[in-house]
Amino acid sequence: MATPASSARARTHDILRHSSFSPAAQRWRAFHLVALGVGLLAVALSSIDRLPDDVQRSLTATIVVVAVVFFVEFVVRLWVAPEALRYAGMSATAARLRWACSVDGLIGLLAVVPALVVIVDTVRVGREVDAILCLLWVLKLGLHAPAMGTLARVISNERATLASVLIVFVIVLVMAATATHLFERDVQPDLFGDIPSALWWAVVTLSTTGYGDMVPHTVGGKMVGSVVMVSGILVLALMTGILATGFAEEERRREYLRVWEQVTRVPMFTELGTVTLSEIVSKLRVRHYPARIVVVRRDEPGDAMFFISGGEVEVRLPHQPVRLGQGGFFGEMALLDRLPRSATIVTTQPTTLLVLYASDFYEIASHIPSLVEAVEKEAQRRRLQNETAMKGDLR
Ligand code: CMP
Repeated sequence: MATPASSARARTHDILRHSSFSPAAQRWRAFHLVALGVGLLAVALSSIDRLPDDVQRSLTATIVVVAVVFFVEFVVRLWVAPEALRYAGMSATAARLRWACSVDGLIGLLAVVPALVVIVDTVRVGREVDAILCLLWVLKLGLHAPAMGTLARVISNERATLASVLIVFVIVLVMAATATHLFERDVQPDLFGDIPSALWWAVVTLSTTGYGDMVPHTVGGKMVGSVVMVSGILVLALMTGILATGFAEEERRREYLRVWEQVTRVPMFTELGTVTLSEIVSKLRVRHYPARIVVVRRDEPGDAMFFISGGEVEVRLPHQPVRLGQGGFFGEMALLDRLPRSATIVTTQPTTLLVLYASDFYEIASHIPSLVEAVEKEAQRRRLQNETAMKGDLR
């Protein structure tokens, strides 16, 4: 049975969890972001020379307050660490140790250690400590970027390709530096007299930065420079392409998992075999709607049908509104009859829908006839129900 302390710990953990979307968690994240912004601004401003003493004092006080917030945050995160799913089955001490050694824990620790120095030395913080705080606190900003994990995964997935491009980068760099050194060493011995100096020029040129502090004067040096500049553009374009494709691929994988999770809530799909299911999953899109949103409007052309994986919608029929809940579907009639929408449909509460676009629906009709037959059967029942109701209205 959960003790009051452990349930308080679980609630606190849920608020501090990066992936939590509860109102309390969102409020905490907003507060943390503001504290971080204020802290960084104070640290940056306090590095300005000759600020009036009272301004300096207020900045130091602000830094101390932010430092205390981060210190308390670190201690609380350490306390709630055993609640994390990934540490399930571990003792509380082991879970806390594991968390302290994780990226989150290390960033927290890096923000806290110099903060402790600030708290102890409340009088006036040395300039060096301030600058280090700026460096370490800015790392905490990364925890607010949801795509950070995706970026790490993309880099990990594409590491072989990225490593190949990096190796090409190094080969071009060393060849360019050596060749320019050979061409320029007699003309500009101060600048290109040794390979490490020429390497600096090659890095600046290959990265297309071009400070202009070192310029080749010989024809050979200029030719090498031209090749290096063009190679730089190619290498950067290659890197960008690899990362962009990796991101798109990762996003597609995540969407697939999101759809798969929702599909299991619709009995119509779970009755299909795994192979058929995986085909339909790749064609569905997950959409979350708040309450009172019009999903489908009467008389508009229909380009998709919807399966309800969570929540509820109201079909606004002329005779009597009908409510459809989890597992239900709508929007099929416009696709089957190739007619405009027969009714307006509004969400009555936050609702999750799986969208199947018309082109995919027609494709599935030939591959998975059992699914479309079930949809057609229900559509036929609805048509009859609507006709009977209309006849009743006319009488
Ligand atoms: P469509 O005509 O594309 O858009 C409106 C949708 O309302 C329609 O498809 C059906 O999915 C749904 N609908 C129409 N009549 C009924 C009914 N009697 N009961 C439940 N849903 C209905």
